[in-house]
Amino acid sequence: MSEKTIIAPSVLSADFSRLGEEVETVCRAGADWIHLDVMDGHFVPNITFGPPVIKAIRNRTEKVFDCHLMIAPVDSFLGAFADAGCDIITVHAEATTHLDRSLQAIRDLGCKAGVSLNPSTRENVIEYVLDRLDLILLMTVNPGFGGQAFIPSVVEKVRRVKSMIGSRPIHIEIDGGVTPETAPLVAAAGADVLVAGSAVFKGGSEAYAKSIAAIRAASDGAMKKAA
Ligand code: DX5
Ligand code: ZN
Repeated sequence: MSEKTIIAPSVLSADFSRLGEEVETVCRAGADWIHLDVMDGHFVPNITFGPPVIKAIRNRTEKVFDCHLMIAPVDSFLGAFADAGCDIITVHAEATTHLDRSLQAIRDLGCKAGVSLNPSTRENVIEYVLDRLDLILLMTVNPGFGGQAFIPSVVEKVRRVKSMIGSRPIHIEIDGGVTPETAPLVAAAGADVLVAGSAVFKGGSEAYAKSIAAIRAASDGAMKKAA
């Protein structure tokens, strides 16, 4: 949807003891959005943070807070994430029984609504909710941890989702194993938002700008070729 790639660093790989500072630094380094990975130890085998932590870092930047909820159940927590200052709230199709209701609830809270699909989930589960969506997050790893290897079979799913969307103004976001090597594959297939955790945060704060620029250059080039 965007003509240029939106880069959304995941703070999952940041230094949690200095989270506010890390958010400021990565925004100065060129991040477009901040990706917030919320995990519950139930839907995914890991636990991270929740609304109070998001609220505490909200005043560090005005950039979009892109919240990826890996929690089940999810509906009863949506209000708390909206209140904490999330701009986009994404729920997993696999984590909610009534996806249409969850998406309506997110928009009713004044946020943009996203749905995420695990690598093994077929894209047809979102066929009847496309008009309720602002973003589709396609996982290119199994959710739960940073630093995992990109699953290449999802590239074909990106293409299919792109064609399902048609002219609707919906972002396609990719999450997991994004690097300058994998970014062009998904950008050429139609993705316009790339989440990157370890590829951005691994080299220390002096390298953030360079790492973001490398992913951006690789994906913008592929996007242009595909257009
Ligand atoms: C995984 C998370 C991702 C993760 C990406 O469950 O949703 O956002 O942090 O990390 P990398 O970029 O290291 O694969
Ligand atoms: Zn994520």
